[in-house]
Amino acid sequence: MDKDIRRTVISDIFADPAKYVGKTVDVKGWVRTRRGNKNVQFVALNDGSTIKNLQIVFDLQQFSEEELRPITTGSSIHVQGLLIESQGKGQSVEVQAQSLEIYGTAPVESYPLQKKGHSMEFLRDIAHLRPRTNTFSAVLRIRHALAFAIHKFFNDKGFYYFHTPLITASDAEGAGAQFQVTTLNLEELPKTEDGKIDYSQDFFGKMASLTVSGQLEGELGATALGAIYTFGPTFRAENSNTPRHLSEFWMIEPEMAFYEIEDNMDLAEEFIKFCINYALEHCADDIAFLAEHFDKELPERLKFVVENDFVRLPYTEGIKILEESGKKFEFPVYWGVDLASEHERYLVEEHFHKPVILTDYPKEIKAFYMKQNDDGKTVRAMDVLFPKIGEIIGGSQREENYDKLKNRIDELGLTGMDWYLDTRRFGTVPHSGFGLGFERLLLFVSGMQNIRDVIPFPRYPKNCEF
Ligand code: 4AD
Ligand code: MG
Repeated sequence: MDKDIRRTVISDIFADPAKYVGKTVDVKGWVRTRRGNKNVQFVALNDGSTIKNLQIVFDLQQFSEEELRPITTGSSIHVQGLLIESQGKGQSVEVQAQSLEIYGTAPVESYPLQKKGHSMEFLRDIAHLRPRTNTFSAVLRIRHALAFAIHKFFNDKGFYYFHTPLITASDAEGAGAQFQVTTLNLEELPKTEDGKIDYSQDFFGKMASLTVSGQLEGELGATALGAIYTFGPTFRAENSNTPRHLSEFWMIEPEMAFYEIEDNMDLAEEFIKFCINYALEHCADDIAFLAEHFDKELPERLKFVVENDFVRLPYTEGIKILEESGKKFEFPVYWGVDLASEHERYLVEEHFHKPVILTDYPKEIKAFYMKQNDDGKTVRAMDVLFPKIGEIIGGSQREENYDKLKNRIDELGLTGMDWYLDTRRFGTVPHSGFGLGFERLLLFVSGMQNIRDVIPFPRYPKNCEF
């Protein structure tokens, strides 16, 4: 079926050229390049539907040079013409232009995106225009496909898409890396008698923040609907200037009643393989383009992950391997340490050569809600570690025992958790879940080097453009 009745979508033409050959097509898009001679001019046209450009041929007996002059890189045009099999090399079909309408020009002197390749840093500065490049359009199409795949995966499994709030009064990860939401006048803050800020006068009558995770509310959904997932924006005010951190990212958080940690690991592995397979199947052209320009090993790496079982290993064993590796790490390794990405990547890339699910972490470095093991030292956590990325998923079985959870909450001095504790007070069940960072998945699938280049408008410390 044609995607759009107002124009011929270029991806439709390439999907089934025979259907269009000999017919008049009506293509609209942005010019990538124009070249040619006194007799004929060739325009490479892109409409965003595919990485492939459609070649438009202008016969100079029919079009004057004057008419074609505004057609420069970045200009937008509408062409009607006959689709024919191409005589030239490099493309199967081309359009013999019969009529031309110019929507908008893009003067060479001022249009920032010219034919030559631009650095990722330069493109980040003009992030409002970078979707017009081959690279970013490829990444953004993959981003769409994966978002769709994620909904498909969970819907097909009978999970419910559950909407958790973006504005919240709780700190799900207990890490204090939250952006505050307030309408108080910061120049003139209302104070209580003991000199503290009087949040009763704030918009919500209490302190509020942007969510760092929808998990706690997700657990309310799972312990009623059985299995849910969230998929939404997540905000973290950590001052992390790394190629793997954003201040605003998207997270997918499935939460399942009656799942133990092994079930959770099975689901995480199946889920991530499904996503990668989906991209391999539905985004082949875009992945091939990115592989050719940035990362030759990308297709192999993707296939490898899909075809191999992930290693499952307790944290304690992981520490042993790191200690015995003889490798000089920047950050020291000892039992109890929160692993740095160099440690995670050593296990994955140099030791096992496979994705690793690390389990049973020390309780001190993990969140309060994780199920406590009988050893009194570790919790039933699971992090999925990936080549090139490090941690791509973080999750756990949850503590379903009211007393144990309450003790841990008190130990850590957390307050306002009564609503959460109610899930354990009334009809508590074993349950588990995890969070996948959507942009980390995209980093892996696209082969891009920096997480700022897989989201249209990245937010990171000292940057909030557009
Ligand atoms: O490990 P995290 O902090 O786990 C949670 O938030 C749990 N509540 C998830 C759950 O069990 N439902 O975050 C989960 C994932 C990480 O593994 C990582 O992929 C991604 O979210 N992530 C980030 N991605 C981009 N930028 C950041 N600043 C991120 N912080 C976490
Ligand atoms: Mg984590």
